Amino acid sequence: MASIGQIIFGSMICLIVVMSGIIVFILAIAFSVSQGTVESISPTTVGNLDDDVMLGCRFLSNTGNGQFSDVSITWLKDSVSGVVYEYKNKAAQLQTQNAQFSNRAQLFPDSISTGNASLLLRNIKLEDDGVYRCTVNAAKVSGTAIVTLRVAAFSAPTFTELTNGSLSAVATKWFPQPEVNWYNQSGQILNSSTSFFNIAGIIHVSSLLQDPVKENETYRCLIQNSLVVAVSEATVTAHKVAQSTYFIFNAASTKKSCLHLLVTVLILLYGVR
Ligand SMILES: *[C@@H]1O[C@H](CO)[C@@H](O)[C@H](O)[C@H]1NC(C)=O
Ligand SMILES: *[C@@H]1O[C@H](CO)[C@@H](O)[C@H](O)[C@H]1NC(C)=O
Ligand SMILES: *[C@@H]1O[C@H](CO)[C@@H](O)[C@H](O)[C@H]1NC(C)=O
Ligand SMILES: *[C@@H]1O[C@H](CO)[C@@H](O)[C@H](O)[C@H]1NC(C)=O
Ligand SMILES: *[C@@H]1O[C@H](CO)[C@@H](O)[C@H](O)[C@H]1NC(C)=O
Repeated sequence: MASIGQIIFGSMICLIVVMSGIIVFILAIAFSVSQGTVESISPTTVGNLDDDVMLGCRFLSNTGNGQFSDVSITWLKDSVSGVVYEYKNKAAQLQTQNAQFSNRAQLFPDSISTGNASLLLRNIKLEDDGVYRCTVNAAKVSGTAIVTLRVAAFSAPTFTELTNGSLSAVATKWFPQPEVNWYNQSGQILNSSTSFFNIAGIIHVSSLLQDPVKENETYRCLIQNSLVVAVSEATVTAHKVAQSTYFIFNAASTKKSCLHLLVTVLILLYGVR
């Protein structure tokens, strides 16, 4: 009979053997698929409803040679049948394209030979949200890159000074529903009230700064949801409200994407078996 010591020793040896096996296996895979690189330019891309969006994907060979011939590119979307777009033998192959993407997807044939596999998706809809896979096969490169498209709706607000001296901000297109906050120049949060109107799923935002504004003061208004932040500045002068807005996209948004990463890693590990 084996003593407890022998059992523990045996299990440790077993564990070490298994672990080294896994490491060798992972290294073997790493080297066997290291034929060139296919990579996404922005692994999470936020698109604006009804606008066009570029899902960036590029490829390069190990030797750094930038000219490719005979490239085949396939874009797929998870849980959607057929292809989003396929390019092979120097032409689009759209026989199996899912109808959801017909006449809305394109590649850039002129720059495919230099490693450009980016997909332009026009007039995006909420159901375009999801995980896309860009697979490239050519003589010196093969691989797949993943791009997650998050579809939001966002628009810059328009500022108006009301006759009673209050400042209003109206933004006609938001999704998911955002939060609105106003600040003065020293970053102090100001009292405001905001209303949301849901028009066929798209949120119309109307916000009012409660206290009367001061001339030549600059006010900052932040409209934000989990995907996009619109940062606006409005300066009230005697005759007009000077205004400007820029957008910041939350690429690594929320805890969900961390979970998603983990799941992706698990799927990849599972997939190579
Ligand atoms: C691919 O080409 C398009 C059109 O010229 C360009 O807008 C895009 O940035 C290119 N992408 C890459 C990855 O080079
Ligand atoms: C911002 O608001 C705070 C509190 O109301 C106030 O003390 C401060 O002076 C304001 N700053 C500016 C630049 O108006
Ligand atoms: C915001 O409103 C509350 C209650 O209406 C008021 O007590 C407070 O002074 C206001 N704050 C500012 C900065 O105006
Ligand atoms: C100005 O008018 C709007 C509605 O027209 C009102 O909601 C707001 O409270 C008013 N502001 C002041 C400072 O009275
Ligand atoms: C606002 O700025 C303009 C131009 O700099 C100046 O003429 C005006 O007097 C200022 N108004 C106030 C209330 O400070």
